[in-house]
This record gives sequence, C-alpha cells and structure tokens, in this order.
Amino acid sequence: MRVPTASSRVEALFAANVAAAELRGDGAPEALFPAEADYVRSAVPKRVREFAAGRMCARQAMGRYGISQFVLRAAADRQPLWPDTLVGSISHTTGFCVAVVGRKADWLALGLDTEVVGAPPEEVWSTICGPGDIEWCNALPPDARAAAVTLVFAAKEAFYKCQYPLTGEWLDFHDLSVVPSEWGPEEGTFLVQQTRPLAVTQFVSAPLEGRYAFHDGLITAGFGLSRGAIRSGRSVSLVVPEDLHHRKQDDLDVQHR
Ligand SMILES: CC(C)(COP(=O)(O)OP(=O)(O)OC[C@H]1O[C@@H](n2cnc3c(N)ncnc32)[C@H](O)[C@@H]1OP(=O)(O)O)[C@@H](O)C(=O)NCCC(=O)NCCS
Repeated sequence: MRVPTASSRVEALFAANVAAAELRGDGAPEALFPAEADYVRSAVPKRVREFAAGRMCARQAMGRYGISQFVLRAAADRQPLWPDTLVGSISHTTGFCVAVVGRKADWLALGLDTEVVGAPPEEVWSTICGPGDIEWCNALPPDARAAAVTLVFAAKEAFYKCQYPLTGEWLDFHDLSVVPSEWGPEEGTFLVQQTRPLAVTQFVSAPLEGRYAFHDGLITAGFGLSRGAIRSGRSVSLVVPEDLHHRKQDDLDVQHR
C-alpha cells in the first residue's frame, strides 16, 4: 500500500502553520474507517480509491497535530467534517491527491485544488473564465492559454472550498475573477476579486490572496483565510447549511480576537 508523504511544496502555498500530505497513485480502500467506507459504499471503485486517498492524506496531515485516529466524516454537501481544533481541505486529480490542515486558532478556513494542466477543454473556458479572466488569458501567448485557464480554474476552486465551510454560499465561476501576479514562473500568487458581493467578504478584509505552483504536469492552488484577516471589530453570525448546525456557536460567530 502506498503511503502519503509530507508535502513541503503544498505547505509553501500557505503563509505558515499548516501541515500537508500528498499521495501519488491510488488510495487504499482498506485504509478507510468503517464510517468513512459507508459514505462511498455505492460508489464506483475509482471514486472509492480517490476518496480513500483523500482520507489517507488528511490522516497523515492531522497526525502532525497529534490527531491520528480521527474518523473524517463528510457532510451531506460533501465537505469533510474536521476535528473541532482543525480546518483543512482535500483535492484529488488523476494519479495525485493532497490534503492540508491547520489549527483553528490560526486559520478560519483553508482551500486546496489540484488540476491537470491543460485539462479543461476549450469549450468550457468561457464557463470558467469571466471577462476579466479572459482579458488576462488573451494577453498571453496562445500556447500559454490552456495552462493559464487551468490556473484560473484551480484558483477559483481553491477559493470556493475555503469560503464554503464558513458561509455555505454556492459560487458561480463568474462571481470571481483571478488576477495572477505575473505569468511565467512556476510558482506565484493570485488575487481573487469579487464581481458581486460575496458573503465571505463581509467579515474578511481584502486582499484575498492565494498561491499556486505548477509541478509534475499539475497545478495546485492554495487559499487560506487566517484569523488575522478578520475585519477589525466585526462580529458576524454566518448562515450555514442545516447539517452544520451541530457545530459550536463560537465557530460560527466570528469575532476579532
Ligand atoms: C467541491 C468542488 C469545489 C471540487 O470538487 P472536485 O471537482 O471533485 O475536485 P477535488 O477533488 O479537488 O475536491 C473534492 C474534495 O473537496 C472537498 N469538498 C467537497 N465539497 C466541498 C465543499 N462544499 N466545501 C469544501 N470542500 C469540499 C471534499 O473533500 C472532496 O473530496 P472527497 O469527497 O473525496 O472528500 C466542486 O465539485 C463543487 O462542488 N463545485 C461547485 C461550485 C463551484 O465549483 N463553483 C465554481 C468555483 S467558484
């Protein structure tokens, strides 16, 4: 059975204070706890393997915070239900899986997304990219555009996965635009700009900045909201999906500390 390894490259996508693990190849279904296996009982084998890969990576990363035998359940909306003290994110793509976790004392939420560079077919580029993204992509050499669209895609998915556990808000690709700092280097930063008011920006101040890295024919984007980004003096009660109501109220009343 392959085992996940610590991922310094993914940890470098976040400012500090995270633990990440990655796994190449398939996850092992036998590594799932029974309650986790129940969640994918009727799924096709490929989905069971990717789900197992995610749980294996998450387990490795949580172990770095001393949590080794945690059953990582999924909510009805699919988001992982992390231990009370941690937040995190999981992503899998062909032959690769990664998870990141951090302490709730440091982070409001974390988001991660990995994509195969060039995977989004050209016919969906206009779904992924709004006018601002298209303008940026069209300014690049034509042979760079497929990779650039993949960057926009991964950045939006990472941001989505970061904000969702806090707000429960569903976002369309065109609700955001992504502004990479530059094009060329294998690693860099990007800003997320809202094209309509987003719930998360009511209590987190700009800039909304993430990081990406191209590696092994893939791109991984990371987005974190640190406790330090909470708007000064704001106290916001967040609307969350029904299946999150079991969480402690102090998780949901975000206050400047
Ligand atoms: C969840 C989603 C963002 C990515 O899923 P995906 O394409 O299968 O890609 P990934 O493998 O990278 O991520 C899946 C993992 O994300 C996590 N996840 C799923 N839903 C989530 C949510 N709502 N919030 C946070 N994390 C979530 C899960 O851990 C899941 O893996 P698992 O089911 O094996 O545990 C996407 O499917 C989705 O729900 N999109 C709807 C909204 C959207 O994409 N809007 C455009 C972006 S702004």
